[in-house]
Amino acid sequence: MKRREFLEWIALSAVSAVLVPYSGATVAAEDKPLTRKIPSTGAMLPLIGMGTWITFNVGNSERLRNTRTDVLREFFKWGGGLIDSSPMYGSSEEVVGYGLAKLNFPPTLFSATKVWTSSVTEGLEQIQESKKLWKLKKFDLLQVHNLDGWEGHLKTLFKMKESGALGHVGVTTSHGRRHDELERIMRTQPLDFVQLTYNIRDRAVESRLLGLAQDRGIAVIANRPLDGGDLIRRVQGKPLPPWAREIDCQNWPQFLLKFIVSHPAITCAIPATRVVTHMRENMGAGRGRLPDAATRVKMIQYMASL
Ligand SMILES: NC(=O)c1ccc[n+]([C@@H]2O[C@H](COP(=O)([O-])OP(=O)(O)OC[C@H]3O[C@@H](n4cnc5c(N)ncnc54)[C@H](OP(=O)(O)O)[C@@H]3O)[C@@H](O)[C@H]2O)c1
Repeated sequence: MKRREFLEWIALSAVSAVLVPYSGATVAAEDKPLTRKIPSTGAMLPLIGMGTWITFNVGNSERLRNTRTDVLREFFKWGGGLIDSSPMYGSSEEVVGYGLAKLNFPPTLFSATKVWTSSVTEGLEQIQESKKLWKLKKFDLLQVHNLDGWEGHLKTLFKMKESGALGHVGVTTSHGRRHDELERIMRTQPLDFVQLTYNIRDRAVESRLLGLAQDRGIAVIANRPLDGGDLIRRVQGKPLPPWAREIDCQNWPQFLLKFIVSHPAITCAIPATRVVTHMRENMGAGRGRLPDAATRVKMIQYMASL
């Protein structure tokens, strides 16, 4: 964080009592991350989680694994919870496990990975392998990746949950063309979570799926919150609107992420990054004031005007 940004941050944060040293800067101990309830279990989840696709697929390089561990450290310093991965993401699960072990498995971790195969038998093997890679005995959430073979996998996952071997069950997609199928699953299956794409540019899920999730008591994870980084590139060099201060946005990533997590149906957004300073910016979106409905409309209009 630059000195000017830091001073603004301090001025705008409702800093009250105890201040703790933090990476050369200072944050208020009371400045806790905003959380939202998982409807089916009542557990609270910080609004900003993290993704690992591409960003954590760094293979065996110890240097790169350590830089990703720094990113994880930053995530947990700011009270991070949900980490999302998948067997589809190359070495990402293993790199997450490496970092978690180095950080002594922070207690706020909410571990979420996926089953990514159409075969039920292979799915069972994959879950065992994922546990080894993450170095965990149990996942907080297992999701059927891209709805692939969901009928068979959901039976397995619901059984695991019933026996206490799994915390929550979900399905994921990032494609509008799968939304009809996703809707059918949400209407008929006792899901804890659904993961779908939602950002200020791609709001297709607002029309049916987000309302349905609220009606059915299903927690929602928003993937591709920065549209794979395209949204950041689009606003580069453009000024934030002056009223962004009223919703405690210091930078564009916070503007974009606060738009997502201020939707009442969204439980958590999962931006992915390989950069510590980016992680700090992203985690700032889970603090302070969130936009109300009228401000959300202004945010959409402002983005469209750029
Ligand atoms: N079907 C599925 O289940 C599915 C599909 C897609 C995604 N996902 C999940 O959703 C996660 C997020 O989606 P995504 O990885 O596609 O994209 P994303 O989070 O929308 O965007 C990631 C990109 O944004 C950049 N970025 C992040 N924070 C930034 C910041 N503060 N400032 C500037 N640039 C920033 C990153 O670059 P830097 O590294 O330079 O920061 C990276 O290139 C995935 O990692 C994955 O876990 C799931």
